[in-house]
Amino acid sequence: MIHVEDLEVIYEGSQKPAVEGVNFDLRSGELKTLTGPNGGGKTTILRAITGLIPSFYPGIVKGHIEIDGCNPHECDPREKVFLLLQDPKIQVTGATVLLEAASPLVLRGVDRRTIMKRVMEQLRVYGLLDYQWTHVYMLSSGLLQRTALAAAGVLGSRYLLLDEPSSFLDRRAKSVLYSILDRLRKEGVGILVATHDVRLAELADESYIVNRGLNRGIYRASMRQQLHPPRNGSELVLQLEKVSTQYPGSNQIVIHDISLYAKKGEIVLLQGPNGGGKTTILYTIAGFLKTTKGKVIIKGKPRLLPADPFLVFPRGRLSDIIEDPGTISFTGKINQIYDKPIYSLSGGELRLAAIAIVLASGGDILLLDEPTAGLDPENKWLVVESIHNLARVGYTIVVASHDEDLAEIATRSYLVEEGRIRKCYGLC
Ligand SMILES: Nc1ncnc2c1ncn2[C@@H]1O[C@H](COP(=O)(O)OP(=O)(O)OP(=O)(O)O)[C@@H](O)[C@H]1O
Ligand SMILES: [Mg+2]
Repeated sequence: MIHVEDLEVIYEGSQKPAVEGVNFDLRSGELKTLTGPNGGGKTTILRAITGLIPSFYPGIVKGHIEIDGCNPHECDPREKVFLLLQDPKIQVTGATVLLEAASPLVLRGVDRRTIMKRVMEQLRVYGLLDYQWTHVYMLSSGLLQRTALAAAGVLGSRYLLLDEPSSFLDRRAKSVLYSILDRLRKEGVGILVATHDVRLAELADESYIVNRGLNRGIYRASMRQQLHPPRNGSELVLQLEKVSTQYPGSNQIVIHDISLYAKKGEIVLLQGPNGGGKTTILYTIAGFLKTTKGKVIIKGKPRLLPADPFLVFPRGRLSDIIEDPGTISFTGKINQIYDKPIYSLSGGELRLAAIAIVLASGGDILLLDEPTAGLDPENKWLVVESIHNLARVGYTIVVASHDEDLAEIATRSYLVEEGRIRKCYGLC
């Protein structure tokens, strides 16, 4: 059992505790979830249980934590507990997907046959067999997250702590994850998941809302007015005609014969499975990749929000980059994090900061990759609403996302699969 009693965490440099008065138990065979607002303290609880605070994140941990009767600072929690970090890129260190999944067991001296059996089983479960020889740095965010999950499965730990394991997963991979978690709990694994995914929280034996303190419940979106897709465009500002692209250093064509368009003030959504080519289409429009075929016509200034916020906000504070946060439509939220150093931002706060940077960068064609991943329901709504408002004032927005709420405000949605556009929905 993992026992947490009166947990309080104060990060170095902070006046206030990030969490306090946290009490709960996680038994073998139980699935529990931590939901709550961005910055509420979910990740902090997972870090405290695994001893990462203070070993890696300086701070003070008060209260009492036991893992099967032993304090994480006396016994190495990694023997029993696997923590899947919120940002899969930090976790994944292998060369290829296969090596990533295999290396923890190789290092533990497990025999080759057992390793390969377990690795292949996990790669099959997460739909990664076709990617086993792919270098991890070539993976899409969703495939990277699946790789991290497969590696966790291979280890077969007694307790699994998962920090937002479904934030980049496509619909199918999400259902696979739900059924795996259910199977693991039946097999006696104790699972604690920090998540904004209400469906996942509903599967749990018990859910908590973490907002510095801990209370029973699921943090959900409040009712919102319905937004309708903008359709005010007449001027064509973006057109791709039968475009194919490949990444530098690779001779593999990643997207094939892509034709799509956007008029001024429209919201165009790219949907589809992990690894389908959505991000590559955005990179192509942004001019980061050379087209091998076809034509890209852009009338305006494209600006890209990458799925990984660190790419636009690698260090410092938001106040070093944006002079006046008043120009951003969700100023209130931005003010709260404006002066915080980047390392002290929660996952959701970091994404909000990256969105603010892109919105302030003066483009009029916004290319947004997974802008709502990892955002709590309130912040997600602020972002959805601001995308809608920006379109109304003439910005053109192309967004790649698994978020079904974005489909509601899209003028048209393209289904991207295996590097091709399979279908168009809406005003096509
Ligand atoms: N290394 C750190 N140093 C200082 N403060 C931190 C650090 N990491 C997080 N914090 C602060 O602690 C609080 C809790 O953050 P935490 O990451 O635990 O939230 P969270 O619930 O996981 O949020 P999210 O849903 O965005 O992932 C926030 O105010 C955050 O800014
Ligand atoms: Mg978090």
